[in-house]
Amino acid sequence: MFDTLGLICMILWYMMLFHPLHADIQCMELDAKESPITNVNVDWRKMELSWESSRNFTGYKCIIMDRDMEYIETEVDSPLCSFPAELNMPLHKGVTFTIEVPNKNISKQCNFLPGGMNGSAIENFSCMIYNIFFMNCTWQAGRDAPADTQYFLYWQKSRDEEERECELYIKDENYRNMGCIFQNVSIGIEKAYFLVNGSSKDSLIQFYDEYIDLYKIEILTAPLNVTVHCTRNPMGCIITWHPPPTSHVENRKCFQYEISIQNKDEPKEEKKLPRVRNDSYEFQNYNEKKRYTLKIRARGKNCLVSSNWGEWSEPIEFGQGKDYFVFVMLFLIALGTISVTLLLYCLFKRYCSFKNIFPPIPQPRDKFNALTDEDIQTEYVNLPTKCHTEEITTAEE
Ligand SMILES: *[C@@H]1O[C@H](CO)[C@@H](O)[C@H](O)[C@H]1NC(C)=O
Ligand SMILES: *[C@@H]1O[C@H](CO)[C@@H](O)[C@H](O)[C@H]1NC(C)=O
Ligand SMILES: *[C@@H]1O[C@H](CO)[C@@H](O)[C@H](O)[C@H]1NC(C)=O
Ligand SMILES: *[C@@H]1O[C@H](CO)[C@@H](O)[C@H](O)[C@H]1NC(C)=O
Ligand SMILES: *[C@@H]1O[C@H](CO)[C@@H](O)[C@H](O)[C@H]1NC(C)=O
Ligand SMILES: *[C@@H]1O[C@H](CO)[C@@H](O)[C@H](O)[C@H]1NC(C)=O
Ligand SMILES: *[C@@H]1O[C@H](CO)[C@@H](O)[C@H](O)[C@H]1NC(C)=O
Ligand SMILES: *[C@@H]1O[C@H](CO)[C@@H](O)[C@H](O)[C@H]1NC(C)=O
Ligand SMILES: *[C@@H]1O[C@H](CO)[C@@H](O)[C@H](O)[C@H]1NC(C)=O
Repeated sequence: MFDTLGLICMILWYMMLFHPLHADIQCMELDAKESPITNVNVDWRKMELSWESSRNFTGYKCIIMDRDMEYIETEVDSPLCSFPAELNMPLHKGVTFTIEVPNKNISKQCNFLPGGMNGSAIENFSCMIYNIFFMNCTWQAGRDAPADTQYFLYWQKSRDEEERECELYIKDENYRNMGCIFQNVSIGIEKAYFLVNGSSKDSLIQFYDEYIDLYKIEILTAPLNVTVHCTRNPMGCIITWHPPPTSHVENRKCFQYEISIQNKDEPKEEKKLPRVRNDSYEFQNYNEKKRYTLKIRARGKNCLVSSNWGEWSEPIEFGQGKDYFVFVMLFLIALGTISVTLLLYCLFKRYCSFKNIFPPIPQPRDKFNALTDEDIQTEYVNLPTKCHTEEITTAEE
C-alpha cells in the first residue's frame, strides 16, 4: 500500500514520553526504502535529539523548527544533536525535528504534537516583577476547559536550576488556580521557563509553556533619595537622586531618567520632560516666586534592565511661591511700622531729655516704655495667633 502511495512511505510510531508533558512524537520519512535512522528520542530538559543508525555515516544535520518557522540547524558526526541553550523554543504549539544525512538523500522528520483537548490550555499568560523581589503571573482558563479543570504552574529560573512548583497560587471564587505570586525572585541572565499544565476528570488538558526574560517584565521602582537644592546666585536648582534598586544591576550607567517639573500655579502648562543619563539635573528656568512639583522615573538603557518607564517618585515641592512673597511683603510692612514707631520713640525720648535738663524722672519714661512694648508685642503676637487658628482649622478637617 505504501508503494502504491508512491514516494512517501510513512512509518508512524508513538512514544509515551518520559516527560510528563502529554505529547506524541510522530515521525515520517521521505524515502521509499526503509530508513537507516531509527529510535528517534528527545530529551526536553537537555534539549537533546538522539537516534540510532544502521549504517555508519560521516555526519548528520539536525534541524529544529517551531510553528512560526523559526529554526536552528546543527551539524554533528555522531547520532546525537544538542540544541543550544539559547534556543528557548516553547513546545506547546508543537515543533518539528529533521535529521538529514548530507549528500545521501536520507532524511527523517519527526513532529512533536502536544496532546490533550483543544481549547483546554490556559490563555493570556503574563508575569510582572514589582517591588524588586516580587513576581506575579496570571492566566485565564482555556475557553473550552471542563469546569473542574485545575491548573498548576511550574517554573525553572535557568537550565541549571531545578523545576519548582508555584508556592502561592492566586485562586478564583471556585478555588481554581488563576495565578501565582513569587516572593523572592532575583533576575538572572538566562530566560526563565514557565509551564502551566492542568488536570480534569473528563479530559486531558493541554499545557502552555513560555520562556521569559525576567528583566523585561520588571516594573522599576522609583529613583531613591530625590533632593532639590536651589540657589539665588546664580538662579537655578540642582536636582539629585539615586538609581532605583534592582535585584541584579549595580551599574549607574544602566539607567535613563525622565524628570517632570510642574509649575503649581499653571498646572495645565506641560513642561517638557528632559531625559538624562546622569544622577543629577540642573533646572535653569527656576523662578523663586513660583512653586514647583518634581517627580522622576527611570528606565533601563543598554543593560539588562527593562526599557519600560518605571514608577514615578513621590512628588516633591520646591520654590517659594506667591504666598511666600505676600508673607514677605506683610512682614516688611510690619517691620517698617515697628521701625517708624521705634524712631518716633527715640525722637520723643531725645525731646524729653532736652526738656529735662535735670536728671531724668523715671516715671514717664517707664510709662512710654511699657506702652511701646505693648505695641510691639501686639504686632508680633497677632501674626502667630492667626497662624495658630489656621492650623487648628486644618487639623479639624
Ligand atoms: C561503524 O563503525 C564502527 C567503528 O568506527 C564499527 O565498530 C561499527 O561496527 C560500524 N557499524 C556499522 C553498522 O558499520
Ligand atoms: C533524492 O530523492 C528524490 C526523490 O526522493 C529525487 O528526486 C532526488 O533526485 C534525489 N536526489 C539525489 C541527490 O539523489
Ligand atoms: C486541535 O486543533 C488542531 C489545529 O489547531 C487540529 O489539527 C487538531 O486536529 C485538533 N485536535 C482535536 C482533537 O480536535
Ligand atoms: C485573553 O485576552 C483577550 C484580549 O484581552 C480576550 O479577548 C480573551 O477573551 C482572553 N481570553 C480568555 C480565555 O479570557
Ligand atoms: C499582582 O498581585 C497583586 C496582589 O495579588 C495584585 O494586586 C496585582 O493586580 C497583580 N498584578 C498583576 C499584573 O497580576
Ligand atoms: C531569597 O533568595 C535568595 C537566593 O536567591 C536566598 O539566599 C534567600 O535566603 C531567600 N530569602 C528568603 C526570605 O527566602
Ligand atoms: C505538570 O507538570 C509537572 C512538571 O512538569 C508534573 O510534575 C505534573 O505531574 C504535571 N501535572 C499534570 C496534571 O500533568
Ligand atoms: C537614601 O537616604 C537614606 C537616609 O536619608 C540613606 O539611609 C540611604 O542609604 C540612601 N540611599 C541611597 C541609595 O543612597
Ligand atoms: C553629567 O554630569 C557630568 C558632571 O558630573 C557632566 O560633565 C556631564 O556633561 C553630564 N552629562 C549630561 C548628559 O548631562
